[in-house]
Amino acid sequence: PTIYLNGEFMPLAEARVPVMDRGFLFGDGVYEVIPVYSRRPFRLDEHLGRLQRSLDGIRLANPLRGDAWTALIAQIIAANEGEDQQIYLQVTRGADGKRNHAFPKEIQPTVFVMSEPLLPPPAAQRAQGIAAISAADNRWHRCDIKATSLLANCLLRQRAIDAGCAETLLLRDGFLTEGAASNIFVVKNDVILAPPKNHLMLPGVTYDVILELAARHGLPHQARDVLEEEVRTADELWLTSSTKEVLPIVRLDDKPVGGGRPGPLYAQMLAWYQDYKR
Ligand code: PDD
Repeated sequence: PTIYLNGEFMPLAEARVPVMDRGFLFGDGVYEVIPVYSRRPFRLDEHLGRLQRSLDGIRLANPLRGDAWTALIAQIIAANEGEDQQIYLQVTRGADGKRNHAFPKEIQPTVFVMSEPLLPPPAAQRAQGIAAISAADNRWHRCDIKATSLLANCLLRQRAIDAGCAETLLLRDGFLTEGAASNIFVVKNDVILAPPKNHLMLPGVTYDVILELAARHGLPHQARDVLEEEVRTADELWLTSSTKEVLPIVRLDDKPVGGGRPGPLYAQMLAWYQDYKR
């Protein structure tokens, strides 16, 4: 695979970052994951818009202009194999001579872009659904920033894996926020409920697509606070992300969700999503 690092294209195996990079020392950086279908980036403007808001959130100047990002991503897609790819990009606050929490005076950001193959989730996950656990959301209060400091998310995801599950649903003060690496939707009495975008969750690009598709097809939907009780008594639960698209959660904390099988609204939404992404 060919990657981009600080102005150069090179094989992934040759890419090196100094150990004094603040991304390595402090997780001081932001990132995006952008799906590519049939060699075309999906919702690129939305991902680049969120990247800008993440950079603003950590007070780091964008190292590239919008059209320069677009051109760079096109080059990375062209340099790599596969019709469907996932672009990972990250920008860190770079390296300084010494380890110091305060920002360096002169900032040379580290810019890294790579492509990996994008595989759809296994057919069995769409057909039979996945299991999840719940946990207290113990992250910071700026979950709207897509930061590379993902220690809490990694620990929360691993708890699900250790329990034989695929994702951890996060609850804060009695309300649903999101998943460890996904957004979560609740279907209750034929209404699609989504937690409202705020500083306690990542504003998912897929989340927006789901709400747009619901609106376009006239399905009742609301972005509003979702109570833990509503999660536990949901008819359907869905997980969304750029790499997983939309998946049905059929067990939560070892109890069946609704009928314990992917629901009818899920089947509809998956079909609309598959149609829309091409
Ligand atoms: N994660 N919430 C969190 C905490 C996430 O990490 C992600 C995505 C999402 C969904 O956002 P989107 O629909 O824009 O992908 C929500 C990416 C895929 C990752 O870290 O690999």
